[in-house]
Amino acid sequence: MFTLPHLKPIKTYKSIALLTSGGDSPGMNPAIRGIVRTALNSGIENVYGVQRGYSGLIAGDIHKLTSRSVTNIVQRGGTMLKSARCLEFKVPQIRAKAAEILKEKGIEALIVIGGDGSMTGAHLFTEETGIPVIGLPGTIDNDIPGSDDTIGFDTAVNTALGAIDRIRDTALSHESLFLVEVMGRNSGFIATQVGIACGAELVVVPEYEFDLHDLCVTLAKQRANKLGSSGIIVIAEGKDPGLTSRIAYQLEELGQEPKICILGHIQRGGSPSGHDRMLASCLGASAVQYLLAGYNDIMVGVQQGAIIDIPLRKVITDTKTLDQNIFAITTLLHK
Ligand code: ADP
Ligand code: F6P
Repeated sequence: MFTLPHLKPIKTYKSIALLTSGGDSPGMNPAIRGIVRTALNSGIENVYGVQRGYSGLIAGDIHKLTSRSVTNIVQRGGTMLKSARCLEFKVPQIRAKAAEILKEKGIEALIVIGGDGSMTGAHLFTEETGIPVIGLPGTIDNDIPGSDDTIGFDTAVNTALGAIDRIRDTALSHESLFLVEVMGRNSGFIATQVGIACGAELVVVPEYEFDLHDLCVTLAKQRANKLGSSGIIVIAEGKDPGLTSRIAYQLEELGQEPKICILGHIQRGGSPSGHDRMLASCLGASAVQYLLAGYNDIMVGVQQGAIIDIPLRKVITDTKTLDQNIFAITTLLHK
């Protein structure tokens, strides 16, 4: 259960809009539902959904939502508003055009659900145009500074675990070694949490450098001495494509016969977990309450179980670090 902020409404809005941007994440739908219903039940007359993230803002692909529009989505993965990556939004003139489109429709504020890139766009948009913006952390990567958790992370971890538990059955039957690649181009939060929870023999993350050859020698020795139990190595995809294949190749050179399983976008889909539905619903409702309480240029996140606000400027300039002590547990638990 989360602790919610006590906020007093001091502002009135007639029309607001919301969008989902960047990589989708399970839980975006309950967040949309939370925003739409809280807004309509708090005196905001019109709530508009922007299609395909910032692309739809620029194109004016903006449609009114009702309480019925968000019925039967709380349990659905993906995002009913669709999501996109929109490089044009990095251009100030294009952001100015988007503001004009909102003003033409009488839309006075915007709520953005997305990852760190989307939060950057949101901050620049309000800074340049004066249109109030509230951000919500929506990404499976859990790499957004200022919030302990992000919408979709829990589901992605559970999805990966479900797959790995199955892989482990066959890994044990055949006494084979599996390299399981999970998502995380720049961050190892998914890999670390999945690695600990599935009992991986080794976890590889982008945050901590390693020597490929040394890593494979250690792993091969571990196998030879029967110290590794699960047969599962969890690897975050990292920035350079092909890391998992390179590890497999090195292991083959050392006489191992690893098998590769790339979980990929399976982790981004599926029904949101109970935790993510709750997080998304509370964040969605709180986003509207912060807006009505006069806040702007903030992201609503969660810290130590409490729903809180963080200035977007801080969100986009800080980095969220992977706790070394947590990562160290991955090596302490497998032997
Ligand atoms: P995520 O939000 O999941 O991190 P991206 O990094 O792809 O995903 O960002 C999503 C979108 O946010 C981009 O396609 C772009 O529209 C917008 N965005 C990202 N970075 C910036 C930026 N520096 N300036 C303005 N908009 C940005
Ligand atoms: O949503 C974040 C993320 O899943 C990263 O972990 C991953 O690197 C990236 O998106 C891949 O997204 P796409 O294939 O859509 O570019």
